[in-house]
Amino acid sequence: MSHDDERARPHEVLGQPFTLPNGQVVPNRSMKSAMSEALAGADMRAPDKMATLYRRWAKGGVGLSVTGNVMVDRRALGEPGNIVLEDDRDLAALQGWAKAGKSHGGLIYMQLNHPGRQVPKFLNAESVAPSAVPFSEKMAAMFATPRALELAEIEDLVERFGRSAAIAERAGFDGVQIHGAHGYLVSQFLSPLTNQREDRYGGSAENRRRFVLEVYRAMRDATSDGFGVAIKINSADFQRGGVSEEESMETIRALGDAGMDFIEVSGGTYEAPAMVGVKSSTKSREAYFLEFAEKVRAELDAPLVVTGGFRSGAAMADAIRSGAVDLVGLARPLAVHPDFPKELLTFDEASVSLAKRTTGVKTIDRMGMVELTWYARQLHYMAAGREPVPDRHPIRALAEQLVTAGPKAFRPRRGR
Ligand SMILES: Cc1cc2nc3c(=O)[nH]c(=O)nc-3n(C[C@H](O)[C@H](O)[C@H](O)COP(=O)(O)O)c2cc1C
Repeated sequence: MSHDDERARPHEVLGQPFTLPNGQVVPNRSMKSAMSEALAGADMRAPDKMATLYRRWAKGGVGLSVTGNVMVDRRALGEPGNIVLEDDRDLAALQGWAKAGKSHGGLIYMQLNHPGRQVPKFLNAESVAPSAVPFSEKMAAMFATPRALELAEIEDLVERFGRSAAIAERAGFDGVQIHGAHGYLVSQFLSPLTNQREDRYGGSAENRRRFVLEVYRAMRDATSDGFGVAIKINSADFQRGGVSEEESMETIRALGDAGMDFIEVSGGTYEAPAMVGVKSSTKSREAYFLEFAEKVRAELDAPLVVTGGFRSGAAMADAIRSGAVDLVGLARPLAVHPDFPKELLTFDEASVSLAKRTTGVKTIDRMGMVELTWYARQLHYMAAGREPVPDRHPIRALAEQLVTAGPKAFRPRRGR
């Protein structure tokens, strides 16, 4: 059966294995997209419970799991609880984690990240970025103006990404994914808004792409043939000022030509209706995104994954049948329904519905990042060997988070 067979039923479409350019076979079309687990203690090491969490997802039948973002430099943390990977000291725990992620026949990739300027003031001594561009007034309370990276520091960061990839391979992960989305360091280099450098890393589009391509090369050089290197890019970046769509396409083409094993495009609010083919009717973001995915496909040989808003097997199968997409990424659905991938392979009607999580008090919702905390709590239940609690009240989730992570999590951490 070919995936463009119109008559193929959703569970058949989603059950087809997919071979990546490096020869690895993803046993089905669902991918667990990165969700930051925030489970490390003040030592920033990978705790053993990561294995419990990833075994749960593996048991649920997902084809490929991408871990939450792991940091390449302990001086730059995006949030409390981040794991940092700089050397071999945690190899045993990492091996347990990788093995658990593969325990039911799927693959596991580790997402590697450096947050650049997006590091909360309370968590880091200073922040670095391509250029010293201040945040807007509203954000400046939380984020300091970064210091512009020296050339030697950029070279060090490139090496760090390579070194972390090599450790991930030694630990048994099948590959790594560069976090090139959500405004972190890699995307800060790409955007002329945050990259105003006048050396070889700034100015022309080609120069702004240099950092990500060097990171990619360093990862390949540090790992074996057959190890996977992928990237996540946010399509929303392409709608705001800064990077034109034409330039985004060129970047994606360059990443594909470099040899990425897959490119994940994160669609933000991409909703199922856009998948059923209402292509030209609206200027909505969803329609924009579908067109975007199709244009990307036309330019790209590398496998394409889309993530954001998928909630039903029917919509996922449509995306794959359209030919624009090879795997479908799922994040929030798998925080609450880890068996969803298995259901997708059995029932054509498989779907999850997720309500917006709110405390009912607007100020608390804004302050506490309720959605993220609520979903992170679900990961913590699974990491403790329990099942998710889909009807947990957001206020209780916030309170639990405060009790578990508490003041400890919010203590400023300093680099070595
Ligand atoms: C709790 C939580 C943590 C997340 N952490 C990451 C992360 O570490 N790296 C990343 O690329 N995306 C992260 N995301 C974004 C998801 O990977 C995904 O792109 C987004 O949630 C949209 O997909 P969905 O609609 O299936 O949830 C996170 C999302 C949630 C809910």
